[in-house]
Parts: sequence; C-alpha cells; structure tokens
Amino acid sequence: MAKQPQTKKPKVWVVGGGKGGTGKTFVASSLGIYLSERRRKDVVLLDADLGGANLHSVFGLKQPKKSLNDFFELKVPLEELRIETGIKNLSLVAGDIHSLSADNIRFTQKKKLFRHITQLNANYVLLDVGGGSHYNIIDTFLFADKGIAVITPDILAVENMYQFMKNVIYRKLRMTLRFYGFKGLAQDTWAKRGMYKISNIRELLDFFKHFPETKDIVHEAFSEFKIYLILNKVRSMQDIHLGASIKSTFQKYLGMDTQYVGFLEYDDSIWKSTRQQKPFLVHHTESRFATEIELFTENLLRGNEVNLWEE
Ligand SMILES: Nc1ncnc2c1ncn2[C@@H]1O[C@H](COP(=O)(O)OP(=O)(O)O)[C@@H](O)[C@H]1O
Ligand SMILES: [Mg+2]
Repeated sequence: MAKQPQTKKPKVWVVGGGKGGTGKTFVASSLGIYLSERRRKDVVLLDADLGGANLHSVFGLKQPKKSLNDFFELKVPLEELRIETGIKNLSLVAGDIHSLSADNIRFTQKKKLFRHITQLNANYVLLDVGGGSHYNIIDTFLFADKGIAVITPDILAVENMYQFMKNVIYRKLRMTLRFYGFKGLAQDTWAKRGMYKISNIRELLDFFKHFPETKDIVHEAFSEFKIYLILNKVRSMQDIHLGASIKSTFQKYLGMDTQYVGFLEYDDSIWKSTRQQKPFLVHHTESRFATEIELFTENLLRGNEVNLWEE
C-alpha cells in the first residue's frame, strides 16, 4: 500500500553560523516558541548541534528519552523522535548528547537526515546547528530554505561569520559547476586568481557570471541566495547599526545579499532563564525582548528587514 501522504511540507530554517555562545540556541528556541504559540504553526525544533547538543535543556528536559542518536544508530524514523516540549504545537528532536562532532556524520547519513527533515509533518523545522565551519554545517545551510546567522557585535564574531559565509558560497559555486559538468573549474580559477585578477569571492562569482558557458547557471543558482542576520547581545545603537555595515561588507566582498532581520539586546534575565532551564519567551510575554523576537520572526516570515530610520 502507498505510504500515507504527508499533510504538511515543512519550511526548513537553520540557525547557525560562526562561533559558539552567540545565542543560536536561544534564538532557535525563541523562533520555535513564537511560531507555535503566536502563529499557531506546527513546529519541530531539531538539535543538530553535534557535539554540543543542549536544546532540550531550554525546556527543562534533562535526559531526553529519544534523540538523533536513535536516528543514526537504530534507524528510527525522524518523525518518531519528536518529543513534547510542554508548549502546544512545538516538538523537539533532541540532539545526540553522546556524539562527538559533525565529523562523524557520513555523506549518506546526512542525505538521509535531510530527506527525513523534509518529510516531517510540520509547518516549520528549525535546525539549531553548532558553531564552526565544518562542511556538514555548510551543507545544512545550503539545504535549508532560510539560513539565519546569529552573531554578537564583536569583531571576532563578525570575522567568523564572514569566513563561514565565504565557505558556504565557495562550496555552493563548486557544487553548481560540478553539477553542470565543470568539475574543478572553481578550484582551478581560484588557484590562478592572480592571473585572472580575482581577489575575493565576489570577483570569483562575477568571473563565472560573465563566462559564457557558466553565466546562466551561476546567475540562476545565486539569484535568490541570501543570508538572514540577527545581531544578539547588543548594548548600544552603534551595535544595532553594525547590521547595516555587515550587510554592505558582505555585498562588496562576497557578492551576497544579507537581510538584516533584527537584533536582541543583552540582558541578564535571558542568561538567568537559561540557567533556570525555563523557556524565556513563555515567561516574559510582555518584555521588550518579546517585541524584538516578534520583530525578527515577522521580518523572516514577511521578507522584511529592520528599518533603522523609523521611530
Ligand atoms: N540577548 C542575550 N542577553 C544575555 N544573555 C544571552 C542573550 N542571548 C543568549 N544569552 C546567553 O548566552 C549564552 C549562550 O547562548 P546560546 O543560545 O547557548 O548560544 P549558542 O547556541 O550560540 O552557543 C547562554 O547562557 C544564554 O542564556
Ligand atoms: Mg547552541
């Protein structure tokens, strides 16, 4: 008999990019709570931080009974690994707290995970990935419908994200060219970049956007490609405005559009709620953070950006 058709086809958002501690887990769980509670969407939060899984603790769950480990080792379908969070319409696939790192995931396992994610019966699947630039994390960004980068307003975090996005774009270019029979062309061109007068990724992309055999495919592959930016732990207007300069820098050197969807102020109550393992948004519905969370989630849903000139 044919398999029951899936009733919902989820949109997949990945939250990651850059280094640890910027607030990826906090943002992913806040997005999940907002979309399920306020927007009445059926949401799955999936802890894909291999090596640092802790999304379950946001919901006060100490030792989840089921986790991604069962998917990888016991071949349990992903849909069966959803556990309740205590919030209506929001379920969690807990991370594998025993796994070591993203290195351990083989290509076939990753493909299978991505396939199962798209088959989950939910409106949204939110992936919380770890920091770092491992190619498995890069591929998760390339697989998702939306890639959301959470960074803090400090130079290290911005540089980290820049490196990460550079790797994402370079990998996407290589994969696109390989798919159309130009295996190795991106690498060769980059290796001879001095000769071609290419000094950054944007110029590499531009090179292929003008090269007769590749211009259509590269235009097509990158026309909709963008990253969504959230600045976390901001403390001043200057921090908030950093979003706009990141946007123009990334355009200039990476040739990529960045949608600056919002920011969150630094506040000790967030940190405290994490320590007490209480989901922040549930207990602070009237706070200004709730408003900030609403703003970036709505911007993500509507394709808008923060408007810094609006009062
Ligand atoms: N806006 C904020 N203000 C204060 N503390 C925050 C804020 N966002 C996150 N935190 C705290 O920073 C720490 C790291 O956040 P977390 O979401 O775990 O980061 P990541 O998943 O990127 O490693 C946690 O203790 C969390 O409570
Ligand atoms: Mg985390």
